[in-house]
Amino acid sequence: MTTRIFVPCDTTALAMGADAVAAELAQLAHARGADVEIIRNGSRGLFWLEPLVEVQTDAGRIGFGPVEVEDVASLVEAGLFAGSTEHSLALGLVEEIPFLKNQQRLTFARSGITDPVSIEDYLALDGFNGLQKALQLDSQQIIDEVKASGLRGRGGAAFPTGIKWQTVLNAPAEQKYIVCNADEGDSGTFADRMVMECDPYMLIEGMTVAGLAVGATQGYIYLRSEYPVAHRLMNEAIKRAYAAGYLGENLLGSGKQFELEVRLGAGAYICGEETSLLESLEGKRGLVRAKPPLPAIVGLFGQPTVVNNVLSLAAVPFIMDKGGDTYASYGMGRSLGTLPMQLAGNVKQGGLIELAFGATLRELMEDFGGGTYSGRPLRAVQVGGPLGAYLPESQWDTPLDYESFAAVGAVLGHGGVVMFDDTVDMGEQARFSMEFCTVESCGKCTPCRIGSTRGVEVIDRIREGENTDANLELLADLCETMVDGSLCAMGGMTPFPVQSVMKHFPEDLQR
Ligand SMILES: Cc1cc2nc3c(=O)[nH]c(=O)nc-3n(C[C@H](O)[C@H](O)[C@H](O)COP(=O)(O)O)c2cc1C
Ligand code: SF4
Repeated sequence: MTTRIFVPCDTTALAMGADAVAAELAQLAHARGADVEIIRNGSRGLFWLEPLVEVQTDAGRIGFGPVEVEDVASLVEAGLFAGSTEHSLALGLVEEIPFLKNQQRLTFARSGITDPVSIEDYLALDGFNGLQKALQLDSQQIIDEVKASGLRGRGGAAFPTGIKWQTVLNAPAEQKYIVCNADEGDSGTFADRMVMECDPYMLIEGMTVAGLAVGATQGYIYLRSEYPVAHRLMNEAIKRAYAAGYLGENLLGSGKQFELEVRLGAGAYICGEETSLLESLEGKRGLVRAKPPLPAIVGLFGQPTVVNNVLSLAAVPFIMDKGGDTYASYGMGRSLGTLPMQLAGNVKQGGLIELAFGATLRELMEDFGGGTYSGRPLRAVQVGGPLGAYLPESQWDTPLDYESFAAVGAVLGHGGVVMFDDTVDMGEQARFSMEFCTVESCGKCTPCRIGSTRGVEVIDRIREGENTDANLELLADLCETMVDGSLCAMGGMTPFPVQSVMKHFPEDLQR
């Protein structure tokens, strides 16, 4: 009987040598005449175990990891090709690894299980069920289902997705667009990349349903150029979806149309902001547009446009298939469903953790993350990307939901969690926030463009002990001006990490 061995093909596994591991396995199988099929699956998101090699057994898939190319010979010697699970790298049943078992994976249910570009694999695990249902419904019924799910945008602003879609549906126009924001610029985030590299049909399905919901026949995925693997896999999946009738002018014989293509960004953080993304997509420099009008009314090429994050669109197939109410039965308060959190920085067990809203930050960092990689005490954690606040220990019991985070002056953003141990210099982190803004500002408005440069200078003076009290007052003032006076959240939120350092780690700023 053929032994099925899985070696992931996503960026993280590749960076850790997965291609060499797969090649060595294939070569040894050939040399031994073993009946082995090597499948390149997506990632489970257990990054500290990559490359995580899995072997199909009667009991389920057994994991080995992290496997280096030098380990392959001894794995084969131990009987890997015969399905043996004896080896020092053996992890037991993958589904039983607590990091994975204790999650509530709705969006990432298939990630790491399937070959990402196999339509058959996708169909075998509920793939395209949501689209099939959507094709039976009218636009309003689809949007009502999304509204019932309580889904809020996972790109950062947490705006209700159903309401955004309703606005685009209600806007009269010949041509409307669906734009997927796959710029994923936040520090320590990779969930969008995982969707595109590990389950790309889910995004295709979500965007197609969005198109049916609002009456848009054209979709674009605006993808950051730093994701070449996602680019390749996404394009391959789109090609196969066209060939199989899941995209194109006659979706599954329904007579309805949805076209989709990937466009590459050019590496500016501000091009993740939806209006400058639209400028960039139109071939112009990524400059923020004043709102109103909202992109839902005047968006791409002046037409009504849905701009949604990858994760928002990727949640839609589950919602359409299992029902909005099922999705809404997860979570708490006004934060419904699940949030894929991404644990990075100084962490022992980094990776993707999808949980219903409501677990605490401490549970995430300790129970899943296993504490710091260095083994030193954890000191600070930045949640929500480079514009998110730094949280001190007193705030680690905050539940992971939009409202609880807002109550402590923090944001969940796109779910990025970056951990720092006690060797961190928080004064340097505060300076970095301002410096990041000087580099990434689109330059359109003064508080952000000039304010961030002045911010770096003031922090430098404080750190040099120059006129400390007066400069601290000036920094507080500057932060307030940037929050109140910036045109978009780039300048408007850059002060958040700075203010959190001033409040919770003042000793570092004045060191
Ligand atoms: C400076 C800045 C950068 C942003 N970067 C991203 C990004 O990389 N990806 C993303 O989805 N949203 C990003 N956003 C949020 C988008 O402007 C927008 O709110 C989002 O794409 C809407 O989709 P959603 O409703 O599904 O979250 C950014 C916002 C700002 C102000
Ligand atoms: S806040 Fe910064 S990024 Fe946003 S519009 Fe103003 S200058 Fe551009």
